Amino acid sequence: MYILVTGTAGFIGMHLSQKLLSLGYMVIGIDNLNEYYDITLKRNRLGILMENPNFHFENIDITDIDSVKKLFESFPFNKVIHLAAQAGVRYSIENPFAYLDSNVHGFLTILEACKDYKVSHLLYASSSSVYGNNKNKLSETEDANSPVSLYATTKRSNELMAYTYNHLYNIRTTGMRFFTVYGPWGRPDMAYYKFTKSIIEGLPIQLYNYGNLKRDFTYIDDIIKGIMLLFLHEQDINNKQPNEVYNIGNSRPYSLNYFINTLENVIGKRADRIELPMQLGDVVETYADISKIRDATGYKPKIELEVGLTNFVRWYVDYHKEK
Ligand SMILES: NC(=O)c1ccc[n+]([C@@H]2O[C@H](COP(=O)([O-])OP(=O)(O)OC[C@H]3O[C@@H](n4cnc5c(N)ncnc54)[C@H](O)[C@@H]3O)[C@@H](O)[C@H]2O)c1
Repeated sequence: MYILVTGTAGFIGMHLSQKLLSLGYMVIGIDNLNEYYDITLKRNRLGILMENPNFHFENIDITDIDSVKKLFESFPFNKVIHLAAQAGVRYSIENPFAYLDSNVHGFLTILEACKDYKVSHLLYASSSSVYGNNKNKLSETEDANSPVSLYATTKRSNELMAYTYNHLYNIRTTGMRFFTVYGPWGRPDMAYYKFTKSIIEGLPIQLYNYGNLKRDFTYIDDIIKGIMLLFLHEQDINNKQPNEVYNIGNSRPYSLNYFINTLENVIGKRADRIELPMQLGDVVETYADISKIRDATGYKPKIELEVGLTNFVRWYVDYHKEK
């Protein structure tokens, strides 16, 4: 089976590709290796994947429809897992055009290719940010039409575009709303990575909204488990292919202060905390209701925060020691 993973040099893309390869799939990974964050980290992730002969990489920008179609011409993809995107809420305030390009134009290219080459199932990354500042436990039945950042707008647009392509062309589509993913090989632009770096180097850390934020931190292995369950999930398909959206989260939100206390204990060093006001585009709290994916697939996240952070810090120290 040929599987296309877009954004394969990214944090989630690398872990997912590794999982698929371990199960014997042929994985074709694409990425444009852009410089939004340290490109060496992306290259090192790729280096690990390249060790497996069942992995093939192409440096392709998903906004380039000709290259994308050529790729679909070359490989008979059974399923596509689309993770490539311009990520990050805060950067969408600085550089909004990057989000429209990669996340909207790029997603349209993938939809067009899936339509033209009759891909049986498209799974794509959405985000908890589509819920905006909704403070409820976030279920897929909640309203998701008040995004507070352009990043969130592009992710919600993807869900609407997937709905339309499912309706028009009967493509099976599964949107995955990830909740704050952390773990080894993670993203240096994310707060937990920056906190770790600063605490280890004895530099101050910045706590937005005076530390009064809550996040449903989800360990990478639990995210990969959720993706794989949806990837393998067989649904009753008559004539109409399903179009679904699922939360993939931990369903145990922690305050930023508790998160940092845990990180301090794992590192064995106190943080110097600077409290700042709320940042534009941020949400106050995320809390995933995971009953939909649990009822459909049996999904149950397992990794406790202490364990996940210990694994992350161990990787971080080891990875940066080699530099
Ligand atoms: N990490 C999280 O907490 C989180 C939470 C919610 C949603 N998501 C979504 O999950 C997906 C993966 O996230 P991640 O954390 O692995 O991010 P990441 O930035 O590490 O990975 C994304 C990859 O896509 C590539 N890419 C970006 N634009 C591209 C383009 N135009 N053409 C080809 N490749 C391109 C990047 O080079 C990068 O390697 C993204 O869609 C992201 O928005 C992530």
